[in-house]
Amino acid sequence: MSVIYVDQWCDALPKMWQAVGQTPDKIFVLTDEMTRVHCRSRLPISGEDVVEICIPQGDENKTLTTLSGVWEKLTHHGATRHSLLICLGGGVVTDLGGFAAAAFKRGIPFVNVPTTLLAMVDAAVGGKTGINFAGLKNEVGAFCPARAVMVDAGMLGTLSHENVCSGFAEMLKHSLLGSVEMWAEHVSCDPNDVDEKVMARMIRQSIEVKAHVVAQDPTERGLRKCLNLGHTLGHAFESLALEKGQPVLHGYAVAWGLAGELYLSEKLMGFPLERMRQTVRFIKEIYGDVRFECKDYDTLLDFISHDKKNVGSRVNFCLLRDIGQVALDIQVSREDITDAFDFLREGF
Ligand SMILES: NC(=O)c1ccc[n+]([C@@H]2O[C@H](COP(=O)([O-])OP(=O)(O)OC[C@H]3O[C@@H](n4cnc5c(N)ncnc54)[C@H](O)[C@@H]3O)[C@@H](O)[C@H]2O)c1
Ligand SMILES: [Zn+2]
Repeated sequence: MSVIYVDQWCDALPKMWQAVGQTPDKIFVLTDEMTRVHCRSRLPISGEDVVEICIPQGDENKTLTTLSGVWEKLTHHGATRHSLLICLGGGVVTDLGGFAAAAFKRGIPFVNVPTTLLAMVDAAVGGKTGINFAGLKNEVGAFCPARAVMVDAGMLGTLSHENVCSGFAEMLKHSLLGSVEMWAEHVSCDPNDVDEKVMARMIRQSIEVKAHVVAQDPTERGLRKCLNLGHTLGHAFESLALEKGQPVLHGYAVAWGLAGELYLSEKLMGFPLERMRQTVRFIKEIYGDVRFECKDYDTLLDFISHDKKNVGSRVNFCLLRDIGQVALDIQVSREDITDAFDFLREGF
């Protein structure tokens, strides 16, 4: 998979065709109703052989019904194994579109053009595709990398502030896995007030961290688990918020999860206290307080022990000894997890 950073589309397109490797007989452009309006005109691909497919926006539409609609359109318009699907959108479009392409006629090429910060630094890169099924997130899917990921930071101009913050949480995670310099830049900026050129560079560094990890462990047998930093607690906060009927954006839950897991990293793995405090201060400032009470602890612990990344009944965390130094498969006791909850509620 090649990541192509778009400065000018006229320079980037030849690189994309080279990465695709063949001239497609038809091009299908998949958007959701927002990216069709806000982003489609930035992608200079049009003509008789181009077919538009638009799906409803939002994670609640990352379903089999929507997927089936995409396959129907592909069939109806005569897609072949020499056709190309371009997924222009956030993580919902790249996840669902990637899976549609991975399975259609046993696999047709696809290119991701991510339009959210989260999709640029995370969802569109790394080959995981899929849909939600039977009430479970990403329950059905495939590992199938895009032929190319076209990263155009200019697409972010119309993205909401909340979605910028949400994507930035994954960048903060990558910076913690990356280097002290990267981390220091992240915790001292306002995600919604970064110069476009600086943001483009930060996005590139972030993708490089993820791509480096994925290249070493594409199917998550070992090292790739470090990308779950912040997610063991984060998924529990996300599920709790959903259960309470007050859903939060994924990145917000990840940011709070990072705060809790840095607390555990300091307590159990000797992560430097001052770096932990500085990161937690930043998270509180940008993402606000995580909302849960003592009576939610059992529900949260239940969500954590049912996380699909656990093996058997053990609760495994990815923690940090320091910035850039990961400790995988660390078993954490219920008592320590409860301490982290107390920290987030009181000391946060
Ligand atoms: N495959 C992976 O490795 C991976 C990793 C992380 C997340 N994900 C998945 O990604 C999804 C979340 O992705 P997301 O946060 O991008 O959500 P999303 O795709 O739902 O996009 C968020 C919202 O922003 C709108 N939007 C997108 N681009 C826009 C733009 N440029 N201007 C204005 N509006 C725009 C969308 O229409 C949507 O309403 C989830 O389904 C999650 O499971 C996958
Ligand atoms: Zn995530």
